[in-house]
Amino acid sequence: MARVLSGIQPSGDLHLGNYLGAIRNWARIQHTADAFHPVVDLHAVTVPQEPGELGRATLRMSQMLMAAGLDPDVCTIFVQSHVREHTECAWLLECTVSFGELSRMTQFKDKSGRQQFISAGLFTYPALQAADILLYDADEVPVGADQRQHIELTRDIAERFNSRYGETFRLPAAVVPAAGARVMDLQTPTDKMSKSLDSPRGTVDILDDPSAIARKIRSAVTDSEADVRYDVEAKPGVSNLLSILGAATGRTPEEAAGDYTMYGPLKADTAEAVVELLRPVRARFAELEADPAETSRLLRIGAGKARAIAAATLERARSNIGLLAP
Ligand code: TRP
Repeated sequence: MARVLSGIQPSGDLHLGNYLGAIRNWARIQHTADAFHPVVDLHAVTVPQEPGELGRATLRMSQMLMAAGLDPDVCTIFVQSHVREHTECAWLLECTVSFGELSRMTQFKDKSGRQQFISAGLFTYPALQAADILLYDADEVPVGADQRQHIELTRDIAERFNSRYGETFRLPAAVVPAAGARVMDLQTPTDKMSKSLDSPRGTVDILDDPSAIARKIRSAVTDSEADVRYDVEAKPGVSNLLSILGAATGRTPEEAAGDYTMYGPLKADTAEAVVELLRPVRARFAELEADPAETSRLLRIGAGKARAIAAATLERARSNIGLLAP
């Protein structure tokens, strides 16, 4: 069975774009692969966090993942900082990656441009991400296209470590899902749906109630033509609705387009499909939210499973690099 790993930061709530673009795919993969999903709280502290907020957001993200279909009995969900091997391994990898390589990371250039205080951790972030992946001998890393560069770097780091110190890490491959559910902002359909876009009306949260979902989809930006067809360039708003409707009902956007000639019914059906898609997610989340001790228990079990694997890999790395055994 292939080992699959992908992490997510505990920042904000999951939205429909995260769900249709990534998390739903993770929920499918767990049945055919040995899947690991850390909530990467140590990556979150590369930028300043409210201390009271971080733990709460970490628990909430874990609950959202479980609500969205990641089953802690089937895959391994855990909190990154609960497995201390990540930080120790990250140090060894920071010493295996060059300043020049880290300087070329586009996510660093983007993020550092938006920070007043650029922490050293923000710069070395990709080495921690490499540790997340390499500690588990992951074969595949399902990520968005924006993470491809980090996974390539992870491979380079692993190869360099192996060639300097002997076979230690397995080389992972990025798996970027083929185009499909690219969910755009409902108000600005040329931008990806995103929590950072600061467009609450354009973003459907996976925990939105049915009336909020319907309202946002009904007021989605379309265009002044009247025909329904899938044409991302000429009709970004309508095409986005078709993508969402298609993804929610297991069809391509072109197939979905065949059923409509007017915007009103398209919006009504898209709203209904999304409401039904998210209804069980919202219900399951409410159960988990009502019992935080149970989520914590599940996360402790996840961390235990993760640690067993991470500790063995770290031991191999420590020994191969030549650190004196205690
Ligand atoms: N850097 C990733 C992001 O911004 C999150 C992440 C951290 C991750 N560790 C990972 C993704 C390991 C995949 C594998 O989305």
